[in-house]
Amino acid sequence: MSQSLVLGIESSCDETAAAVVANGKQVLSSVVHTQIEEHAAWGGVVPEIAGRSHLRAIRPAIEQALSDAGIHHEDLAGIAVTNRPGLLGSLLIGATAAKALSWAWQKPLVGVHHIEAHVYAALMTIEQPQFPYITLVVSGGHTSLYRTTSPLDHELLGCTRDDAAGEALDKAAKMLNLGYPGGPAIQQAAVDGNPKAFPFKLPMLDRDSLEFSFSGLKTALLYTIKGPGGKMDDPWIIDRENMTDLCASFEYAVTETLARKCVRACKQTGIERILVGGGVACNKRLRTLMQVSAQKAGLEAVFAPPAYCTDNAVMIAGLGYELLQRGQIDDLNLDVFARA
Ligand code: KG4
Ligand code: ZN
Repeated sequence: MSQSLVLGIESSCDETAAAVVANGKQVLSSVVHTQIEEHAAWGGVVPEIAGRSHLRAIRPAIEQALSDAGIHHEDLAGIAVTNRPGLLGSLLIGATAAKALSWAWQKPLVGVHHIEAHVYAALMTIEQPQFPYITLVVSGGHTSLYRTTSPLDHELLGCTRDDAAGEALDKAAKMLNLGYPGGPAIQQAAVDGNPKAFPFKLPMLDRDSLEFSFSGLKTALLYTIKGPGGKMDDPWIIDRENMTDLCASFEYAVTETLARKCVRACKQTGIERILVGGGVACNKRLRTLMQVSAQKAGLEAVFAPPAYCTDNAVMIAGLGYELLQRGQIDDLNLDVFARA
């Protein structure tokens, strides 16, 4: 087979995913088993539940990915698996499955960095990437800006000092009783809202920095609905009919901040192209605001496709292909790491 087919495996958080990608670009299959319903009752990801769920879902996901792609494991050029960062118990399930298959099928194994893979999901959409890019990875666990000079080279320019943007949306949704995960819930509740109705101060814009901070915004939301100094259990002081405007305003504050920081990073570095990936990159308001800000500044912004913004194995197989092309192969001692 002239194509280089890579099997990707992802299990770093609450999605068990497997995919087959040809030559790092062409998606032959993508299977995602999400655990959202299993964690929803707890209002967030419970590591113990996640690990057990991955264990049940991983083999069917891999079998499905191979069968959807219409290939046999003998056709594979290699196996790529997320080995950092993430929940240790969850990472171990994917890594152990990948090692077992690598040994049984005698295929090269490569460990993939989950955040770099989120960037690759955006790069995959570009026929001929023109480096360098300013890259924003914005998910439940990360909000970071990088200077990206190749699919594997990302220089950190700034990250969040406290909550990630997705985490802030998840916590805000919890406060507003909108359920889990919060990002999609807030987006839906905000659809007809006025984003200027509650003028939340956009965080960290008064300085030159490329860092983020979203926990103050969360407190501002709490004080808006419960009054100054209010606590989670206190009664609301505003009419609940304001929910739509409240969600739109909070979503605007988070996403406009992200868009402005990307443009600032471009101005500071002279880079003219922006890449955006990670779960929050699904957000429609972020996509619109980023395109508006980029256009105004004469920049180009490219987002990962929504299906490959949230956790998936396509991005793992894609980046795995790049690593294998460079001869970067791991052995059965491949370890997993909670932090990047
Ligand atoms: O990349 P991801 O699936 O997992 C991590 O690596 O963290 O991102 C999950 C995050 C959650 O915080 C979720 O609320 C957020 O992405 N998210 C969204 C949307 N879809 C998912 N945030 C805003 N708007 C969305 N449509
Ligand atoms: Zn992720």
